[in-house]
Amino acid sequence: MEIRLATAADETAVCRLWKILLNFYRKEASPEMLKRSFQYCMGHPQRVLIFIILIEGVVTGTASLHMGHFSTWSGQFYGHVEDVVVDPAYRCRGLADLLIRHVIEVAREHNLCRLELTALNVNKEARNLYEKHGFTTDSVAYELHLK
Ligand SMILES: CC(C)(COP(=O)(O)OP(=O)(O)OC[C@H]1O[C@@H](n2cnc3c(N)ncnc32)[C@H](O)[C@@H]1OP(=O)(O)O)[C@@H](O)C(=O)NCCC(=O)NCCS
Repeated sequence: MEIRLATAADETAVCRLWKILLNFYRKEASPEMLKRSFQYCMGHPQRVLIFIILIEGVVTGTASLHMGHFSTWSGQFYGHVEDVVVDPAYRCRGLADLLIRHVIEVAREHNLCRLELTALNVNKEARNLYEKHGFTTDSVAYELHLK
């Protein structure tokens, strides 16, 4: 088992996992869009880090750390965890646990003051995962689509 940052060579594997996540959310994005997003992340490591977890060389899960959100209350930067997904064939083996632990460690190394993320109310698996790692919520998430 290995956790590492994705490289350009991992594009197909990461986009495959992102597609699984999109299907889970019943959302659509073209393969070209996913590839462009992956390439954007590769080109902007100061903004987004994509982590992957591999079993015997196979990319089985991913999570991203988006950085650079500024907290005016503390004068420090905070991060967003996005795109957490494990290949269905490898679930319930502790892989997301390891990924989230790693993301938190890296966030600390980058001196981020907190991490935020969103999960669907009904997504019990994800909510259990995040709460196990200390994430709490007393908020309601809103969104306004501008495009
Ligand atoms: C959520 C997800 C990433 C968990 O991945 P996983 O590798 O199977 O999770 P792990 O085996 O590491 O489990 C870690 C913790 O998550 C929670 N969890 C995972 N699967 C669960 C399940 N089927 N039922 C309840 N809790 C579950 C538990 O708290 C678990 O800890 P525990 O084993 O000590 O109880 C995976 O189910 C997934 O990819 N789901 C679809 C995409 C998704 O929902 N992503 C999150 C978007 S916010």
